Amino acid sequence: MALVAGVDSSTQSCKVVVRDARTGELVRSGRASHPDGTAVHPDHWWTALAAAVKDAGGLDDVSALSVGGQQHGMVVLDPRGEVIREALLWNDTRSAGAAEDLIRELGDGDREAGAKAWAEACGSVLVASLTITKLRWLRDAEPENAARVAGVALPHDWLTWRLAGAQGLDTLVTDRSDASGTGYWSPSTEDYRRDLLELALGRGDVALPRVVPPAESAGTTAGGLIEGVPAGIVLGPGAGDNAAAALGMGMRPGDVALSIGTSGVVSAVTPRPTADASGLVNGFADATGQFLALGVTLNASRILDAACRLLGVDHEELSRLALAAPPGADGLALVPFFEGERTPNRPDATAALHGMTLATTTPEHLARAAVEGLLCSLADGLDALREHGITAERIFLIGGGAQSEAVRRIAPAILGTEVLVPPTGEYVADGAARQAAWVLSGAAEPPDWGREGTETFSAEPTPHVRERYAEVREMHARRLGQG
Ligand code: XUL
Repeated sequence: MALVAGVDSSTQSCKVVVRDARTGELVRSGRASHPDGTAVHPDHWWTALAAAVKDAGGLDDVSALSVGGQQHGMVVLDPRGEVIREALLWNDTRSAGAAEDLIRELGDGDREAGAKAWAEACGSVLVASLTITKLRWLRDAEPENAARVAGVALPHDWLTWRLAGAQGLDTLVTDRSDASGTGYWSPSTEDYRRDLLELALGRGDVALPRVVPPAESAGTTAGGLIEGVPAGIVLGPGAGDNAAAALGMGMRPGDVALSIGTSGVVSAVTPRPTADASGLVNGFADATGQFLALGVTLNASRILDAACRLLGVDHEELSRLALAAPPGADGLALVPFFEGERTPNRPDATAALHGMTLATTTPEHLARAAVEGLLCSLADGLDALREHGITAERIFLIGGGAQSEAVRRIAPAILGTEVLVPPTGEYVADGAARQAAWVLSGAAEPPDWGREGTETFSAEPTPHVRERYAEVREMHARRLGQG
């Protein structure tokens, strides 16, 4: 039996799965942690990949491998291929001002025209997460580093390149999904926009990864670089983590995934590219040749972590407490923008709790407000997708946060519709593995890896919870002067 491997180099850790190429059966897996922080030297991802491969028992018997990874991270390389500085990650908000500058510049001073122009050019109105804004920040804040840039890659591109032996900047590769999160690649024409890159960095002539089509090989491993990774393993193009998750779940048009990881993501596969000038929906490409409409929040599973810390409880207890409080927590509402926010675009926001009375200041109410705040912010993302004509025939809840019983039970009440919770899994790494199997097969479609054990959750809708959340979210924005 042929085996394939999938890697998820995510914000907080690196995961490796080894699966049977034909059936998708899980053979073994491994993981290792990444350091905290929103600026991380890529070498840490390489070290974690080596540790995760070791934890998975090596890849000596594996025929093909694909790397999925956190999107947008700016990896800048000098002419020798050396990393110039720590990579700025998707959740680093220091380039928020640069994003605004670029929007206005493309609109000749008119923000609205600029937002529309960016949405049409690259599928997304710029926010601090997109790579291009980080390059502008680099030009302005670290001109000496900017002057040394000879190539720009994303986390998954860089890892794939290293696995292939890093033979010069002209051998960098990426895929449509991750290229579409840079801000200088157009999902509708499938071309790099070097003019936009030049606008941001001051130069458009740097090496950019070749965009490998979904089921094509991106080369082979060089071997001898990581223990347990021999030469000659076929490399897939890889993907951004959200597109890899969609491939791992076998999503099709009509499916919407709500993913509660470090980021909160509401995503839907669409047959045509989207371009939302309001900026709520990112119009990315997917990993199969279609497109991925995405609403992304900076705050998700860590909202639950913060509530656990505050209450001094673990996740199981947090869930029990939340389910013991009434829907709406008697008016206690959390605006969960702990790390600033991207959707809505409030990079400087902080979180705030509204409606504290002696009666609502209980662990149960606080736990409920945390779960509801998380779900309401994702429900806002779903509304934005719907405004773009996306129908949600099936809603899937995935990611670490979906393991919370309270999240599963309260989600259908907040969303006003049933939700499906597939079995817990490493959907990003699985999607990467499925891509590797697809490349290996040479078939027109990815292999059919059925998934069993999906649970359905339903509940009485509680629209008043979203109304109260919307009220405090806007009150909060007004106080910040961002409403
Ligand atoms: C997507 C995004 C996040 C990261 C998380 O636009 O910024 O979902 O990909 O890894």
